[in-house]
Amino acid sequence: MLVSAQEMLTKAKEGKYAVGQFNINNLEWTKAVLQTAQENSSPVILGVSEGAGKYMGGWDVVVGMVNGLIKDMKITVPVALHIDHGTYEGAKAVIAAGFSSVMFDGSHYPIEENIEKTKEIIALAGSKGISVEAEVGAIGGEEDGVVGGGEVADPAECKMIADLGVTMLAAGIGNIHGKYPANWKGLNFEVLAKIQEKTPGMPLVLHGGTGIPADMIKRAISLGVSKINVNTECQLAFAEATRKYIEAGKDLEGKGFDPRKLLAPGTQAIKDTVKEKMELFGSINKA
Ligand code: 13P
Repeated sequence: MLVSAQEMLTKAKEGKYAVGQFNINNLEWTKAVLQTAQENSSPVILGVSEGAGKYMGGWDVVVGMVNGLIKDMKITVPVALHIDHGTYEGAKAVIAAGFSSVMFDGSHYPIEENIEKTKEIIALAGSKGISVEAEVGAIGGEEDGVVGGGEVADPAECKMIADLGVTMLAAGIGNIHGKYPANWKGLNFEVLAKIQEKTPGMPLVLHGGTGIPADMIKRAISLGVSKINVNTECQLAFAEATRKYIEAGKDLEGKGFDPRKLLAPGTQAIKDTVKEKMELFGSINKA
C-alpha cells in the first residue's frame, strides 16, 4: 500500500539520514526501484514528473502500475508515490488519481502567490493524508525544458512557506538538475545552515542529486536534508548499459532482441545505482 512521505521523512530527519526520491519512467524503472528498496529494507519515494506521467500514458496508468507492482511483488517497505515539480493543476490531478504525496512547485511565482497556491494544495492534500513538498527559490539546470540558474533561496522566505504546514521543503542552495558543469561552485552550506535554523524540524529536500560528491551529500544530510532526488544518474546508467549490450552485438545473438533480454542490463544498472545511493543516503534497513 502507498503511504504518505510524512512518517518516513520525520524518521529520517530524526535519524540523520535521507530517503531517496528516484524518478520513474516506465515499468522497468519502477520495478528496479521497488525491488532495490525491498531487497535493502529501505523506504523509498517514486518521483514522477508531469512529462514522465504523460509519457507513461497518464496518472491513472502510473497509479495502477505502482499499486499493482506493490501488490504482485509483495513490496512491504514504505513507498510514497510523489509528483515531481507539480504545477498547480498537476498537483490537483494526482491527488484525485491516488498519489500519496505531491510536490507543488510555485518557486517561479512571486512569494505571495507561491504562499497562496501552496496553502490551497495543503488544504486539498491534507484532508486525504497526502504529504506536500513546496519549493522556494528556483533550482538551476534543465528539467522538462525549464532552465534555471542555480539559484539560492532566501531563508526568510523558506520560513514563510514552512510555516504553512508543508511536510517537506525544497530550497535552492546552488544545486542544479542534470549533470553539474565543470565550474560548479558546489552546494551553499552557509545558506543551508540558515534555512535549517529558521525551519527546525522541517525535512529539507535536495534536488539535483545526480553527481553531487559523497562528502557534500553527507554534509547536507547533517544540516537537515532528509530527502534527496535522483533522476539523471539512473538514466545515464541505463543508457550506458544498454549501449554496451548493443555495441557488443548481443541483440543479434539468439533471441537477444527480446525486450526482456535487451532491457535487462539497463534495468540492472538502475538497481545498482539506486542501491549505491541508498547506501550513501543511509536509508538501508530503515524501512
Ligand atoms: P537529477 O536529474 O539531477 O538527479 O535531479 C533530480 C531531481 O531533482 C528531480 O526533481
